[in-house]
Amino acid sequence: MSPPKTFHVKSFGCQMNVYDGERMAELMAAQGLTQADAVDADVVVLNTCHIRERATEKVYSDIGRLRKDQRKKSGKTPMIAVAGCVAQAEGEEIFTRAKVDIVVGPQAYHNLPDLVAKAAAGTPSLDTDMPLLSKFGALPARRKVAPSAFLTVQEGCDKFCTYCVVPYTRGAEISRPFAAIVDEAKALVDAGAREITLLGQNVNAWSENANTPEGRGLHDLIRDLDRIPGLARIRYTTSHPNDMTQGLIDAHRDIESLMPFLHLPVQAGSDRVLKAMNRSHTRDSYLRLLDRVREVRPDIALSGDFIVGFPGETDAEFEDTLSLVDAVGYAQAYSFKYSPRPGTPAASIVEQVPESVMDERLQRLQAALNRDQHAFNAATVGRTCTVLLERTGKLPGQLIGKSPWLQSVHLLGNHAIGDLVEVTLAAAGPNSLTGIERIAEAA
Ligand code: 5AD
Ligand code: SF4
Repeated sequence: MSPPKTFHVKSFGCQMNVYDGERMAELMAAQGLTQADAVDADVVVLNTCHIRERATEKVYSDIGRLRKDQRKKSGKTPMIAVAGCVAQAEGEEIFTRAKVDIVVGPQAYHNLPDLVAKAAAGTPSLDTDMPLLSKFGALPARRKVAPSAFLTVQEGCDKFCTYCVVPYTRGAEISRPFAAIVDEAKALVDAGAREITLLGQNVNAWSENANTPEGRGLHDLIRDLDRIPGLARIRYTTSHPNDMTQGLIDAHRDIESLMPFLHLPVQAGSDRVLKAMNRSHTRDSYLRLLDRVREVRPDIALSGDFIVGFPGETDAEFEDTLSLVDAVGYAQAYSFKYSPRPGTPAASIVEQVPESVMDERLQRLQAALNRDQHAFNAATVGRTCTVLLERTGKLPGQLIGKSPWLQSVHLLGNHAIGDLVEVTLAAAGPNSLTGIERIAEAA
């Protein structure tokens, strides 16, 4: 195989994968490769997700489709790299299931250029090492980014929820150093970011020198980032209820650039299920925590993750999830059918819930969550707020951006992507709102 000249990176799954995908693309570009569509690229990186079975299987169907599409169009055989969490979890096995050239884990992708060179010389190679944080230092500087950018500050998970593969694919909880994060945030702002979302599997577990007098937590980091000129908005995701410190709650009252939005997964509403999931919080402690957050920031938009059909979940226990949803009133949320993952404790529980029961529960839960999302959107009509413009819409002059509460807002106006526009929210649908620019209103 001759050395590749073009590349394509395709990311699946969570926002951290989107971040990793961007960094891999920057790495390939720094090697002199140019970006191309998947059907034309000499090397295609599939940055994969292992969280549920369906996500994992998608990799294999994608590899087949990619090969077929390229063969049909140009007769070429692309170099294929499987990156991300499937690479970490399945390792060598991927070579036996599919014809790929590279398998590279989420903590090793800074080695992609070497792996590509080896593969071009005819040696398929695997790198699933987990060196602590060395990848960040080996990645090129950020040059051009979207108005809303991601920044990984923490990786891994020590919580070991019994259904979850993340502690195995992303490794132990580890925090990037304060100074490196601030430097990257400044570089992101120089490269065009107006909003930064701090990412971590347990982002609110971010800490430096924990348990010492000079120890710092996520709220200290946010306070520093708030001082960066040109950075208008800060967000963070995903948080764990047990790492929600008073300092971070207070930051929602004290730091204006910290947006009024909190993604705080609960997974289920029954204490027995939460215990079987090893969630280490109860329904009540979760609800009391949200009360404390709402006390300091009454308008905060709450978001969550839910799993229906965890092994052994009864009808009555599922009703507890519905009543928790009613009690919270989420602005938005994600809900999933339980998917047994190899190697996790829950996968070997014998009482798996039948698929048809999971389907019905998911439908009922999603109906309740959609109802609440629409209600949240409707309740914001009449408010004035800023919208950060992220892209153009389908209609002429239409622009789409995000409100502080992470709602999609459509508006008409003469602005550039990246502008922050003052609007009045005028009408709400289930998934988006219409905004009217305030200057236009006054004229
Ligand atoms: N099955 C279904 N959903 C899962 N999640 C994690 N593991 C599983 C699983 N085995 C969900 C959780 C988590 C989100 C990222 O994915 O809700 O918060
Ligand atoms: Fe998975 Fe639980 Fe860790 Fe979240 S906290 S990544 S659900 S093990």
